[in-house]
Amino acid sequence: METPAKENLLEVKGLSLAFGPKDKPLFAVENLDLSLGAGEILGVVGESGCGKTLSALAVIGLLPPGCRIEAGSIRFLGQELSGLRGDGMRGLRGREIAMIFQEPATALNPVQTIGAQIVEPLLLHTAMTMKEARAEALSIMTKVGFAGVERLYGVYPHQLSGGMRQRAMIAMAIACKPRLIIADEPTTALDATIQAQILELLVRINRDYGMAILLISHDLGVVGGLCGRVAVMYAGSVVEEASTTELFRDPVHPYTKGLIASRPTKESKGRPLYSIPGAVPRLGHKPSGCPFMPRCGSAVPSCALERPDSLEVGPGHEARCPPEAEKRRRVDE
Ligand SMILES: Nc1ncnc2c1ncn2[C@@H]1O[C@H](COP(=O)(O)OP(=O)(O)OP(=O)(O)O)[C@@H](O)[C@H]1O
Ligand SMILES: [Mg+2]
Repeated sequence: METPAKENLLEVKGLSLAFGPKDKPLFAVENLDLSLGAGEILGVVGESGCGKTLSALAVIGLLPPGCRIEAGSIRFLGQELSGLRGDGMRGLRGREIAMIFQEPATALNPVQTIGAQIVEPLLLHTAMTMKEARAEALSIMTKVGFAGVERLYGVYPHQLSGGMRQRAMIAMAIACKPRLIIADEPTTALDATIQAQILELLVRINRDYGMAILLISHDLGVVGGLCGRVAVMYAGSVVEEASTTELFRDPVHPYTKGLIASRPTKESKGRPLYSIPGAVPRLGHKPSGCPFMPRCGSAVPSCALERPDSLEVGPGHEARCPPEAEKRRRVDE
């Protein structure tokens, strides 16, 4: 496949994912837009239940039973994925798009050795012989930080620590050098030192192989340190997107401001952290206007009327908060 212009590696437009009956859909993701350039690292942040994982699963064609694509498109390298089924998606998964899950224990096969699991995608998607695939697997294992790879090739997942299991899963994901890696909370289950090592590994992979990474996290701190651009998700939609520098310097959406204010910083040490009042609406309980309105300190009556549009508030900076965008416009004039 030929690589098209930079901005076109992944383009998600107007994606809505729903559960429930066709005539009464319950939207878990609604009108989601995301785009990712070749070799870019895009961060997706938001609290639990915002639709981060479902969006990722839609891209890789692994939506859970009962969840369907209700509207929108997912284009990868210019090819529409939303209608792809079976073989079409299986051909891309692992070869062009791979996913790293939060909990490696659930994604690794407990009765297969680590080596065999890294070899598998190579045998499936490349013309390598078993001997070549084994040599490649050993080289990838070294790349992701295994020492003594010959021995570790033959161990089972339960014989490894959580951090090493996560490295094994990363090795499986990068085996075929996919163009896109989706990392869904890849370090949440790990302690802080190991977290930093795994994140550093992802950055190295991005740098050395040029693989684009969609890094999903509820932790703005994790994302801020690694990603050039950040999309903030709330209740199934992207409510703000900007370069990381711009997002931290000049957040527009009250939800983004709340997330930034609730981050632990040096100054906040020892003091209770701010937390955004209220909770993410449960599936089927989204208010009809702006879904953030019940938790928002800056809401105005019009926020209750309709779903807010995403508006440009600066170069490469969009926010789904018309009142805040309007305030900016007035200040700029
Ligand atoms: N299999 C499922 N059946 C029913 N509802 C689901 C299912 N999976 C997700 N949901 C609902 O869809 C919404 C989005 O879930 P999703 O797992 O994508 O959130 P998330 O942002 O990844 O959260 P977290 O940070 O906890 O991983 C939530 O309201 C969730 O309860
Ligand atoms: Mg999730």
